[in-house]
Amino acid sequence: MLLFKSVELLQNFLQKKRKEGLRIGFAPTMGALHRGHASLIKKAKLENDICVCSIFVNPTQFNDPKDLEKYPRTEGEDIKILVDLENEVLFYPTVDAVYPKDLQIPTFDFGQVDKVMEGKFRPGHFDGVVEVVYRLVDIVQPDRLYMGQKDFQQFTLIQHMLQQMQAKTKLVVCPIIREPDGLALSSRNVRLTPENRERAPSIAKILQQLNDWIANGLSIKEAETKAIAELSKMPDFRPEYLEIVDGHTLQPIEKMEASDYVVVCTAVWTGDIRLIDNVILKGNKRN
Ligand code: PAF
Repeated sequence: MLLFKSVELLQNFLQKKRKEGLRIGFAPTMGALHRGHASLIKKAKLENDICVCSIFVNPTQFNDPKDLEKYPRTEGEDIKILVDLENEVLFYPTVDAVYPKDLQIPTFDFGQVDKVMEGKFRPGHFDGVVEVVYRLVDIVQPDRLYMGQKDFQQFTLIQHMLQQMQAKTKLVVCPIIREPDGLALSSRNVRLTPENRERAPSIAKILQQLNDWIANGLSIKEAETKAIAELSKMPDFRPEYLEIVDGHTLQPIEKMEASDYVVVCTAVWTGDIRLIDNVILKGNKRN
């Protein structure tokens, strides 16, 4: 595997490969790699000639400085995982390389898509995500960009961004990878207490039950309220939001019939760790 820290050297290398007609897949990450990231890299390798994985803990997307401080950094293990996956290129830039002083990032119009859920509870978070993904895509200029469904609102915004950029890059969204007990993989899971780790799979179980509750007569609002109540029953669990939304616009819906694509998204605090998860309830199922 080749490791680049310099933007210029990476770009020179990729330009040569592009001229040879090779297709480039790109999986941006913040490190602390797990099987979820591995699934992005495996798919990128299958669908392209070269996979570029970036590891960059982006300071601008952490609305809580404590979260940035505590974010797991596992450089040695990450490199071993990437070598085992036979990933071709690792881009491991410094903050100054990603954000040079004269950098200009265009503004994008996301309408209401970035105002709800994560956008509402993590002010500024998506500004940082869009900024870094724009910059990384501009550096790598991939044919395909690989992101996980777990960050549903994140990939939806990036899809809008790519459309507005009229980028040649195609977004490929990969399904959520779960532990055998259902817990969605996350770099933050390693910080769960043993008790909370044991309880955490209930989040996915509750989300998966929503379709049955609605089929059995609950309205969307009633089903959301019941799910929030179930989550709140668990000691040390505090749901921040749980919303059944249109999967395209991420706006709340009142009836399942109102959309061909319905997803339930949630963020739940467990102690000082915030877990997010989602389940597609209707249409285009990946999980
Ligand atoms: O999903 C993530 O890990 C990050 O938000 C991303 C897309 C790598 C941007 O820093």
